[in-house]
Amino acid sequence: MIQIPNSVASSNPYGFDTLRFRNEGICEGILGAVGDTPLVRLSRYLDQTDVELFAKVESCNPGGSAKDRPALKMIEDALESGELEVGQTVVESTSGNMGIGLAQACRYYGLKLICVVDPNAQRQNVAIMQALGAEIEWVEQPVNGDFLSARLLRVSQIIRDNPDAYWTNQYGNERNPAAHFEGTIQEIDDKLGDSYDVVFVATSSTGTARGCRDFLIERRPKVQVVAVDAEGSVLFGGEKGRRKIPGLGAGVMPELAEGQTFDTHCRVSDLRCVVGCRRLAEREAMLVGGSAGGVLEAVRSMQSQLSGKRCVAILHDSGMRYLDTIYSDQWVEDTLGAKPADLQSLVDANWVECLEQSKD
Ligand SMILES: Cc1ncc(COP(=O)(O)O)c(C=O)c1O
Repeated sequence: MIQIPNSVASSNPYGFDTLRFRNEGICEGILGAVGDTPLVRLSRYLDQTDVELFAKVESCNPGGSAKDRPALKMIEDALESGELEVGQTVVESTSGNMGIGLAQACRYYGLKLICVVDPNAQRQNVAIMQALGAEIEWVEQPVNGDFLSARLLRVSQIIRDNPDAYWTNQYGNERNPAAHFEGTIQEIDDKLGDSYDVVFVATSSTGTARGCRDFLIERRPKVQVVAVDAEGSVLFGGEKGRRKIPGLGAGVMPELAEGQTFDTHCRVSDLRCVVGCRRLAEREAMLVGGSAGGVLEAVRSMQSQLSGKRCVAILHDSGMRYLDTIYSDQWVEDTLGAKPADLQSLVDANWVECLEQSKD
């Protein structure tokens, strides 16, 4: 259990004298429900029956995504170390899941939060952050052709103007991968022991993939990590291009990703992500977000190399927040140029072209 700093205990409006904890299955507060997400066997997604596939369903976190984990760790560790105190303002550049995870943790611990977002942010995500008390700062214009650079510039202005502000810096904060080292992959390992072979992970900050890889290098050196990136992402030497699926890939190289290598990395197109989401909904009755669809299609494209292997796909978020995009035939046709019948035949196809992939 984490010991609460005195400063937090004395000013905690809810009168708890401990930070969150889990005790005999009861969560003391919603933050105690972060982590311990289900591992679900997917027996219908792949056509090849000699590949075992499990999904780590991160949408079961209370904020709806894997990002609850690093959000919570960045806030709790900063509170514990005294870098951050109750009443202070946290600031972060985010347009989605991290903002929601931070809004949840900040509201719980009595911290103010400013989320810097851009016009590509999904309105529903912004509304969730606001409902949890976050203040929203919109940037309107890209900087050097890029909205992330514009958001980071605004963050630096906010920090300059508010000496009280604390930047969690999700793209450079080592507590981000640490949250997955201590949580996501540890939970997978607790369930599967020494009987899994490959972990497939979507990448953006690379926090999730790094946390998993570092754990596996230390404890299960035979388990491979496949980092799944987006076409149009600059990670792993990629060329910047148009991307429409939120959460997957990066338009600017994140500090955490510099120099990082994984056993294999591969790239998926936006349409491939949609195909994965639709196929999962059809065959396994699960709604997941676009990066998860891309990860599943990465597994499918490599299945001939995976005979006899046990694979885990980390599925970062739920499809519920993508009903107007990934699950809308109109959006898929207008944005990605695939007509419903063509999309359906990709979903039904029992083969999938090999993705661009390379061993690092
Ligand atoms: C939906 C989704 N998938 C994948 C990722 C990639 O995770 P990471 O930043 O840990 O690389 C993110 C990160 O924001 C995300 O929101």
